[in-house]
Amino acid sequence: MEIHLTDLEQAMLSGEMGPGVRRAMEIVVTLGRIYGALDLVPVSHVQVSGVSYKNLGKAGVEFLRRWAGEGARVRVPTMLNPMGMEEASWRELGIPESFALPQMEVVRAFESMGIQPTLSCTPYFIPQGLPHRGDHVAWAESSAVVFVNSVVGAYTNREGGPGALAAAIVGRTARYGYHVPENRLATHRVRVRARLETMADFGALGYLVGKAVQDGVPYFEDLGEQLPPLPDDLSEGGAAIDRLKTMGAAMAASGSIALYHIAGVTPEAKEAGESIVRSEAGLVEIDSLREAYDFLDRSKDVDRIDLVSIGCPHASLAEVKLVADYLKGKRVRTRLWITTSRHVKDLAKRFGLASIIEEAGGRIVADTCTVVAPINAIGVKTMATNAAKTAWYAPSHSGVAVRYGSLEQCLEAAITGRWK
Ligand code: F3S
Repeated sequence: MEIHLTDLEQAMLSGEMGPGVRRAMEIVVTLGRIYGALDLVPVSHVQVSGVSYKNLGKAGVEFLRRWAGEGARVRVPTMLNPMGMEEASWRELGIPESFALPQMEVVRAFESMGIQPTLSCTPYFIPQGLPHRGDHVAWAESSAVVFVNSVVGAYTNREGGPGALAAAIVGRTARYGYHVPENRLATHRVRVRARLETMADFGALGYLVGKAVQDGVPYFEDLGEQLPPLPDDLSEGGAAIDRLKTMGAAMAASGSIALYHIAGVTPEAKEAGESIVRSEAGLVEIDSLREAYDFLDRSKDVDRIDLVSIGCPHASLAEVKLVADYLKGKRVRTRLWITTSRHVKDLAKRFGLASIIEEAGGRIVADTCTVVAPINAIGVKTMATNAAKTAWYAPSHSGVAVRYGSLEQCLEAAITGRWK
């Protein structure tokens, strides 16, 4: 069946609003046709990925420059995913100029389209980046997608970089996938008997559930018993939010999960109860996290650590505070990066947390992360992290050996230089 377009959407498609808008509408409509959408749905917010020069390369920069040159501008608030370095400190961090200059061209091209250079995968920690329950949005970064669908209860598909940018330019996306309520029903029940204490445990759980459920929708029957209560203001982070963001990121990495429900906790599960689960749903039981730790902490022969990486997905202010509290009066021997957004970094400076971390020899690094930054170009060969997503991707994306464990284990490794 042909996709229904309004007069305005038709005008965009026929080029009446310029070639940049036509290109965007062609992408949105093509995606709609591929996935059987009947019409388009307005979006209130967009998050664009594919920002790091490490992934884009020269061809990607040229494509963006051409699109921006066609006069394309975004119609709704739009934020950017992390790039490959921190703009304010790339020289100090040792990033080569041959990477930094084209990287900044990418950001300038996005800015010329009206996109805010938030450069973060946790836009929900930026007050104007937190959608409401039931909003349709078009987000691209996989951990942000699973968070906004599940914890906020907004509706998004897992957009690709060009698809999200196209949605921002036309202010709409095709109505298919997770924009359709029926597709948001759970495909698997999950029972968790393993005890979860640390964020790393939640990441390990996410790894196992992602592997088991792949692109389905898990419904956690009893996980609420092991979660602290959700705060009223999600943008503050905190124990529950930080656990859910790392768990979702892991599920989206080892599987391609874009939505989950937790009985009594996440908004749709609270509203619909058991009726959110499909009658034919499968069952996944998690009795132990051992298999996950065996995989994520697989470089067991590595004990000397070059870089400790905290903040994947980008750290909340609450996580930065945990690090500062631990490091007060101590000194680190390795490089220690707490990666986060400019917004959270500014808050950390205002509350005196950044100075504690810097006095200990660590740094809060905005705009980037240790997966999208060219860390092998700055001499990093071994890394420790409490983030399952980093442990999953860093070996293949950056050629580093990774140790995986709790925040305390990681910070001890930073202080002693060794993994215990
Ligand atoms: Fe974000 Fe980088 Fe992790 S983009 S989710 S911090 S791999």
